[in-house]
Amino acid sequence: MTRKEMQIVAGIITISDRASGGQYQDLGGPAVKAAAEKCGWDVLAEAIIPDDKKRIQETVRSFSAQGCGLILTTGGTGVAERDVTPEAIREIMRVEIPGFGEVMRAESMKITPNAILSRSLAAIVDGSLVIALPGKPSGAVECLGFVEGAIPHSVALAQHKPTSC
Ligand code: MTE
Repeated sequence: MTRKEMQIVAGIITISDRASGGQYQDLGGPAVKAAAEKCGWDVLAEAIIPDDKKRIQETVRSFSAQGCGLILTTGGTGVAERDVTPEAIREIMRVEIPGFGEVMRAESMKITPNAILSRSLAAIVDGSLVIALPGKPSGAVECLGFVEGAIPHSVALAQHKPTSC
């Protein structure tokens, strides 16, 4: 399959009460966007929303309906009381792909022991691959880098597109 046929269209969602409330500047979304563009992906949609299950679910589904075959979220994967990103995604997913979370945590543990606190995951929601990355900008970009190679084939499968294997 040529690169043109496999052009990935991405949506990026920053999930943070404080960033969405204007208490601090969103650094995670722009960092993930820069990393996605470096991979050659088109970033079609971006949002900054609070740690609210319903808002997360609505935004993921809206981005999927707009044509984002890949949806990257950053934030809310930890164990603070307001961290609900994994629960929100699991409620609307068709299947989870556990390998993504396993690799992101295992590789991140080589950088910081705190990586064990992230419940990062990937799942298929509607026709999209959704990857929940940690909130720290450097951590989100690191995690994306660890799984980048698996993304094109996973997006093609999520979108029911023919693949070479
Ligand atoms: N993963 C990487 N690669 N680098 C990091 O700095 N930070 C960790 C972890 N994963 C980190 C990481 C920390 S400190 C936390 S609390 C969890 O991600 C969850 O972050 P979140 O709740 O902002 O998603």
